[in-house]
Amino acid sequence: MANIVVLGTQWGDEGKGKIIDLIAPAFDVVARFQGGHNAGHTVYVNGKKLVLHLIPSGILRPGKLCIIGNGVVVNPQAFLDEISELEGFGVEIDENIVISSKAHLILPYHSAAENISEKARGPKKIGTTSRGIGPSYQDKAGRLGIRAGDLLDLTILKEKIGQNVKEKNIYLDYYGEESFDPEKVFDKYAAFAPRIKKYIKDVSLILDDNIKQGKSVLFEGAQGTLLDVDHGTYPFVTSSNSTVGGVCTGLGIGPDKIDAVWGVSKAYTTRVGGGPFPTEIGDDTGRLLLERGNEFGATTGRPRRCGWLDAVAVAYSCRINGISNVILTKPDVLDSLEEIQVCVEYKYKGERLRSFPAESWVLEKVEPQYKKVCGWKEPVQGIRDYRGLPQAFKDYMKFIEDLIQAKISIISTGMERRDSILIEEDLKHLIDLEKIRTEL
Ligand code: GDP
Ligand code: IMO
Ligand code: MG
Repeated sequence: MANIVVLGTQWGDEGKGKIIDLIAPAFDVVARFQGGHNAGHTVYVNGKKLVLHLIPSGILRPGKLCIIGNGVVVNPQAFLDEISELEGFGVEIDENIVISSKAHLILPYHSAAENISEKARGPKKIGTTSRGIGPSYQDKAGRLGIRAGDLLDLTILKEKIGQNVKEKNIYLDYYGEESFDPEKVFDKYAAFAPRIKKYIKDVSLILDDNIKQGKSVLFEGAQGTLLDVDHGTYPFVTSSNSTVGGVCTGLGIGPDKIDAVWGVSKAYTTRVGGGPFPTEIGDDTGRLLLERGNEFGATTGRPRRCGWLDAVAVAYSCRINGISNVILTKPDVLDSLEEIQVCVEYKYKGERLRSFPAESWVLEKVEPQYKKVCGWKEPVQGIRDYRGLPQAFKDYMKFIEDLIQAKISIISTGMERRDSILIEEDLKHLIDLEKIRTEL
């Protein structure tokens, strides 16, 4: 059946992990195309929680091939730790994980460089996850990077680490930070080689072979559109393309292999780290969202900033990514509210803006214009059938669909797999819904 991209339409943490795990039974392959272990994708299986950072969230479904593409940056230690955690969870890891030989590695000096850069920004710091993500992508663009494939030849690895450490130490010394010993860094990474080697393969070729054999691929986004390095709230973004273009560059496939793009949107908005956030609310409702939504970073544990749903931002994400269908998550968090606000447009210096502005300093000053919607005031939490949803909730969905010009085709009503509503007529021509239902 179809190959589908599922990505975030906001600032990350929209619930992508839950959705990927939910729909993975309808696919043969699940592939990550960007980001690294800055991601935290939470999956609940029968009350047991697992947070995936680097390995695709399809891994809990037996028989799925999980791919880490060249667009991902890989910390080998984080990768091996995640494998151990999965094994502890009872997941069998064998030939079901592949890492692209072209994926860049994260090295210890990347985190050190990131700390310096964040400190130097002072109050304007990005508030990164401190995982060395940005500096690793910097080395990739700077043509200095060390790739997974370099682990296959220790002479080359040693030479590259030597050259890198020499350069990085100049920078670290300048800021009075401890320098790295190239021998020690090499020894550490050389020790990863025998444990990781078997996963390193030609991802583009594997995907092509699978697609030619009629297998279907689910492309898993990390972060969200507003954290994309080009289209997000630059410079308060991550360092990769979390938008749809990243699928082709991050896996080595053509755009003809993508049949549809689905966007995951939370029924409200959250953001971790610095940067503009027009619909942020700091009052009791903000606290209610934080507490009821359990909005704490899945990677860093930081409390997430919370605010109303921003339909201007989601509509922008739908345009940037060519999203046809939206997956609405966490509406149950709003269950008790009498009234729900949705941002329908931005004003800047008194004038209506046509779209989401490119400049962070403009976004910082926009005045969000809200429309109030009646709350449904009865629990949607755990509802599994569209017909069981309150009419006020259905009216709210229609209101959002009109604003974002995309159909809401999956509604998530809780953390567990079975807390989900799949709108049959929107999805059945693309995926085998029976395969999902029998695995709930
Ligand atoms: P991701 O990074 O996009 O995968 O999202 P995270 O895992 O970082 O954050 C989403 C959080 O919301 C996780 O704790 C999920 O278990 C939880 N979640 C996902 N969908 C729902 C839902 O429909 N309702 C509720 N209450 N929680 C949800
Ligand atoms: P998932 O996949 C939410 C944010 C960080 C910071 C900025 C840059 O779980 O949705 P980085 O470490 O990437 O250089 O940090 O991006 N960030 C995320 N926020 N969810 C994520 O991933 C994120 N990954 C990075 O908080 O503001
Ligand atoms: Mg997350």
